[in-house]
Amino acid sequence: MKHLLKLADLTTEDIYGILNLADQLKYERKNHIPHPHLQGKKLGMIFSKSSTRTRVSFEVGMDELGGRALFLSDRDLQIGRGEPIKDTIRVLSRYLDGIMIRTFAQQDVEDLAKYGTIPIINGLTDYCHPCQVLADLMTIREYKGSLKGLKLCFVGDGNNMANSLIVGGIKVGMDVAVACPDTYRPDEDIVRWAQSNGNLLITSDMKAAAENADILYTDVWASMGQESEKVEREKVFRAFCVNSDLMRVAKPDAMVLHCLPAHRGEEITDEIFEQHADEIFDEAENRLHAQKAVLVKLLK
Ligand code: CP
Ligand code: NVA
Repeated sequence: MKHLLKLADLTTEDIYGILNLADQLKYERKNHIPHPHLQGKKLGMIFSKSSTRTRVSFEVGMDELGGRALFLSDRDLQIGRGEPIKDTIRVLSRYLDGIMIRTFAQQDVEDLAKYGTIPIINGLTDYCHPCQVLADLMTIREYKGSLKGLKLCFVGDGNNMANSLIVGGIKVGMDVAVACPDTYRPDEDIVRWAQSNGNLLITSDMKAAAENADILYTDVWASMGQESEKVEREKVFRAFCVNSDLMRVAKPDAMVLHCLPAHRGEEITDEIFEQHADEIFDEAENRLHAQKAVLVKLLK
C-alpha cells in the first residue's frame, strides 16, 4: 500500500491491517502510552473545501505520532492561481513526507500520486471518502464485534459516502443496500463491481433497503460544491430521512451512523440523531485513530 486514493485500491487484508493498528493506537492513546512512529515526518494538508473533522484529526494525529502537519489552503497555494497540480506535487515531494488532500476531482488526487514521489491520502473528493469509511468500519466493529455478514443500509444521495461505503462494505463481506432516488444513484462502475463481488441492493424503496439492517447510515442531501442545487435536492430527497418509522424495519439493535456534519430535520430526525449520538460521536472520534493508522502504514 503506497497511497490511499480510494478503497478500491486496498485489499481486504490492507483494510484489516489499518483497523487493527487503529484499535491499538486508540488503546495506547487512552492509556497515555506514547507512540511516536513518525518522529520528524511532515504531512502537507491541501484543502479546497471546508473541514472540521478531517483537518483537526489529521493535525492532532500527526502531532501525537511525533510529526507535524502543515495546513495548506488552495486559496493561498499557487494551485489557486493556476499552477498545475503536477508541478505543485513535484515541488512538495522535495519538502514533505506525505500529502493529504481534500478537493473536488478524483483525477487531481490520482495525478498527485502519479507525478509525486510521496504517499498521497484522499481526504474527500466528489467521488469518495475513504478515510471516513475506515473510521466507520472501525466503529461498527467496536459495537458489533465483527463485520462480515452484517447488513449496512445507506439512505440518501448516491454520493462520495455511498460510493466508499459500498466498496468498503463489500470488501469486508457486508451486505450493502442503498436507498436513493433513481436519478441520484452511486457511481455505476462501483455498482457493477459491487454486484459482481458481493451483495449490493440499489433501490428507491427505503423500507426494502433498511429491512433487517444492522447499520443505518445517512449523509447530507447536498454535498460541498452542490450548494446551488440545494432547493432542487430538498424536493427530490424529502422522503429520504432516517426517522423512527424507518428504524422500525431495521434490526431492533441497529446502529445509526452519520459522517457529519448533519442537517437535522433533513436526512435524519433530531430524535434519531440524539438517540444514537454515542455511536455517531464515537465514529467521529475514530477518524483520529483510523487516520493515525493510515499515516503510520504509509509514512513510517
Ligand atoms: N466527515 C468529515 O469528513 O467531516 P469534515 O468535513 O468536518 O472533515
Ligand atoms: N457528502 C458530504 C460528506 C462530508 C463529509 C460532502 O461531500 O460534503
